[in-house]
Amino acid sequence: MDSVRADQPYSLLSRGFHWVTALLVLVAFLVSVGGPESRIYSQQNSFSLGLHELLGLTVFILTALRLVARIFDPPPPAVEMPGWMHSLSRLVHWVLFTLLIITPLSAIWAVWAEGHALTPLGLGTLSPMIAKAADFGSTLADIHGLLGDAIMWVAGLHGAAALYHHFWLRDAVLTAMVPWLRPK
Ligand code: HEM
Ligand code: HEM
Repeated sequence: MDSVRADQPYSLLSRGFHWVTALLVLVAFLVSVGGPESRIYSQQNSFSLGLHELLGLTVFILTALRLVARIFDPPPPAVEMPGWMHSLSRLVHWVLFTLLIITPLSAIWAVWAEGHALTPLGLGTLSPMIAKAADFGSTLADIHGLLGDAIMWVAGLHGAAALYHHFWLRDAVLTAMVPWLRPK
């Protein structure tokens, strides 16, 4: 099949949301603190935890704004590709949007259920607004970690698919998100 170049890239706003979010998610993942509760909430890890919470909360707010902005500023028309590939790519996008919302929400719920305050770096302290349920909170914290891992896996495959489109199929999927890669 001859690939067809999409003439329209994503808007500057969509590209800004996309790449800032990708960067923040990557750094949030890299600075995440694991291990037992005593380690996560130790004095030694308070900077990493605070940074992780700040970045994660920012991702949540950016994603909420992005989903609203998307109504008024929709993606460009899809690049021509087989139907199954188009459906799969839309599915992956919605899985990513869902993960970007539920990963931070699961963390807020887990942290509060465990009886801890939120301490996003530089933004003070947000005491629990729900009743303590330590076992539930700890299970939810584990689920949060798995959701964080899932974002990295799905986004990694999604990024690899974008590179496959660019270098193998030679279509305009990647250049829609990185217009400066377009051939002159
Ligand atoms: C997209 C955003 C986020 C990603 C990708 C992410 C990712 C992760 C990952 C992978 C872990 C597990 C670390 C490990 O076991 O080595 C983790 C743990 C944690 N995250 Fe996040 N996180 C995000 C947002 C947040 C937010 C918004 C908060 C708090 C408001 C938060 C608080 C925590 C806490 C407290 C832990 C330790 C959980 C435990 O095991 O008890 N995270 N995060
Ligand atoms: C944490 C990392 C990432 C996340 C959460 C993420 C998320 C998303 C989401 C939700 C969309 C759909 C945008 C919309 O419809 O408004 C999208 C589109 C896109 N992303 Fe990512 N992405 C990430 C990393 C990457 C990387 C590393 C690449 C390239 C190597 C990439 C390339 C693209 C491209 C080319 C599109 C447009 C695809 C199309 O229109 O079919 N993304 N991304």
